[in-house]
Amino acid sequence: HKDLLDVTYLSDEEILFILDNAKRFQEVNLRAVKKVPTLKGKTVTLFFSEPSTRTKLSFDTAAKRLSADTFALGKSGSSVQKGESLKDTALTLQAMHPDIIVIRDSSSGAAQFLAERLNCSVVNAGDGWHAHPTQALLDAFSLREAWNGEFAGKTLLILGDINHSRVARSNIHWMTRFGINVRICSPKTLLPRYLDNFPVEIYSDLNKAVQGADAVMCLRLQLERQAAGLLPDLGDYSRRYCLTRRHLSEAKPNAKILHPGPMNRGLEISSEIADCADSLVLNQVSAGVATRMAVLYLYGTRNDDMTLNPQVGE
Ligand code: CP
Repeated sequence: HKDLLDVTYLSDEEILFILDNAKRFQEVNLRAVKKVPTLKGKTVTLFFSEPSTRTKLSFDTAAKRLSADTFALGKSGSSVQKGESLKDTALTLQAMHPDIIVIRDSSSGAAQFLAERLNCSVVNAGDGWHAHPTQALLDAFSLREAWNGEFAGKTLLILGDINHSRVARSNIHWMTRFGINVRICSPKTLLPRYLDNFPVEIYSDLNKAVQGADAVMCLRLQLERQAAGLLPDLGDYSRRYCLTRRHLSEAKPNAKILHPGPMNRGLEISSEIADCADSLVLNQVSAGVATRMAVLYLYGTRNDDMTLNPQVGE
């Protein structure tokens, strides 16, 4: 494929190829000189019309560590503020001949809309409620490291605002394909309809959902995507769904904790859990740079025969 729109478009082999390359790039990120010439002469444009800290900075860092030139455009400070459409903005960016456009937008389907209209590669950095493929890939990388390469037979609980979560949707796709037993726990009002199509167990009681889990992925309560009249009572939500040490005592010993960030501490995850020794939250951030280097390598070189990057070395 020319574009990365979601993990659904990646074969198992392509996912493992990205994870294997990310492992090699992780070693580059630990070197004194954190740069390889892989994408020298290529241009990566970052077009983020929704706020981002982790995804935007890690794509920028990843591209620069591959020696690509990067340019960033946001809603604020660009002609989007004067009413220029997504399509006209993207065509304008493409007329400057980038090799890859990385896009984040609040509309589900925005990345696909552009991918169908642009010649360059489009990488989805989060589109509305729909998909966040590189978050799912970096989560796969983090879990692969923590579980010594094993996915099949593990039990992972995804907790919180599933309905508005592009992270949950993309993760459920690859996790169920790779044999992870996925559990979902959220209030009934925050459960999406698409779950009928997936082999996931659904809970509304966190005390039951967490029993025997190998990992818990907490999600942010996405208040900005909820209609004003439908907002949950935050006190009630945190009493029922904020992950604490008491809940975790029911999970497997040393169960891993994930959160894509940004976290609402005390609402969906307690600070003692976010900062505990088994928390992978900051590992996920580091994995984000290595995984996005692997994604940019794959799409920036159109590496169809999937060779590991020879420029990383042993
Ligand atoms: N996880 C994630 O997408 O974080 P940002 O919104 O900060 O990029």
